[in-house]
Amino acid sequence: MACSMSIDDSLGRPLRDLRISVTDRCNFRCTYCMPREKFGPDHTYLAKQEILSYEEMTRVVQSLLPLGLKKVRITGGEPLLRKDIAVFVTMLRDLDAHLDIALTTNGILLGKNAKRLYESGLNRVTVSIDAVEEQVFQKITDSRNSPRDVFAGIHAAQESGLMVKVNCVVKNGVNEHQLVPIVEAFSSKGIAVRFIEYMDVGTTNDWNLESVVSGEDMRKTLTKHSGQMKRNPAVHPSDVARMWSLPNGTEVGFIESVSQPFCGDCSRARLSAHGSLYTCLFSEKGTDLRSIVRFGANEEEISKVIQNIWTKRDDRYSELRGENEADRQPVEMSFIGG
Ligand code: GTP
Ligand code: 5AD
Ligand code: SF4
Ligand code: SF4
Repeated sequence: MACSMSIDDSLGRPLRDLRISVTDRCNFRCTYCMPREKFGPDHTYLAKQEILSYEEMTRVVQSLLPLGLKKVRITGGEPLLRKDIAVFVTMLRDLDAHLDIALTTNGILLGKNAKRLYESGLNRVTVSIDAVEEQVFQKITDSRNSPRDVFAGIHAAQESGLMVKVNCVVKNGVNEHQLVPIVEAFSSKGIAVRFIEYMDVGTTNDWNLESVVSGEDMRKTLTKHSGQMKRNPAVHPSDVARMWSLPNGTEVGFIESVSQPFCGDCSRARLSAHGSLYTCLFSEKGTDLRSIVRFGANEEEISKVIQNIWTKRDDRYSELRGENEADRQPVEMSFIGG
């Protein structure tokens, strides 16, 4: 393994975590992420030659390992739509036996892929599911799939040996009545559910403060049904989810980026499918790495460029939310991944 130093940004935060979007396409049209009016048949997706190859992405990861990278998350769009994603996992695993490799997915194609992904060296999957009631699920995802398809994918993942977490975005008036059923669906399976406050990412969703259900309000709902919740100590300072326990021991997480921002320990960089590096989920612009990678830069050179970007980093969008200019044009979440 490469010897490791760490680089800090201008607020003292190391770069530990890289999230790679491998495709900007998705088989769902979640209303808060890729609404069909904006992502219809006329939408232009990245062309194949614009997207980084697995070799190119691997080279970027390799250049970050000596800087202290510990975790890679493969995201999208929907990453399982990209061909041979397991091959990419193998390439990452070959770089470093200890790297934590995770994948975020909507679960529809997980049944088909889980075993091969595990065998290729993937550690864990995080599956998004916003409702267990079929009608609500279909409305949110704007698809004809059933939550049963996602359950099947999750089951296959667990059977294969992958660790599984579940993420659920909660939107006022849409799925807050799904909180209790979702916790109940997964607690017996040993899967932690994390509820996410609806965020103002991108420009295509209809975000407003009224549509946000705060973590505190979510806990009130769960407490009413299952009894007083207790806050658990944080495992790692840069974790986005705060974990709580129900009286029966079930752990539930809350990702409270709107009501309790967690920029202070944010060690996450993001690589878009077309090879730009973003230092914040809410960035308007990234830095093009694709041209230097395609120009033949070696790991050391790529590493220098990233160091230069990271040491200047001062992003803390969620903490400044409200103080920012109204006409910001942050990049879409389906483009840089959650
Ligand atoms: P673990 O390694 O499993 O703890 O992963 P994680 O919690 O870092 O990743 P995951 O993809 O499960 O993150 C869950 C959700 O939290 C994402 O889908 C986003 O909605 C939100 N999130 C993750 N990272 C950030 C971030 O840096 N800023 C903000 N504002 N939200 C984030
Ligand atoms: N707010 C919060 N979470 C979001 N996600 C996508 N868009 C938003 C948003 N506006 C979530 C997805 C998935 C993860 C990748 O990000 O539901 O769980
Ligand atoms: Fe696809 Fe995930 Fe966005 Fe839904 S939230 S449209 S599943 S990328
Ligand atoms: Fe990190 Fe930006 Fe999210 Fe803050 S808003 S936690 S800096 S990605």
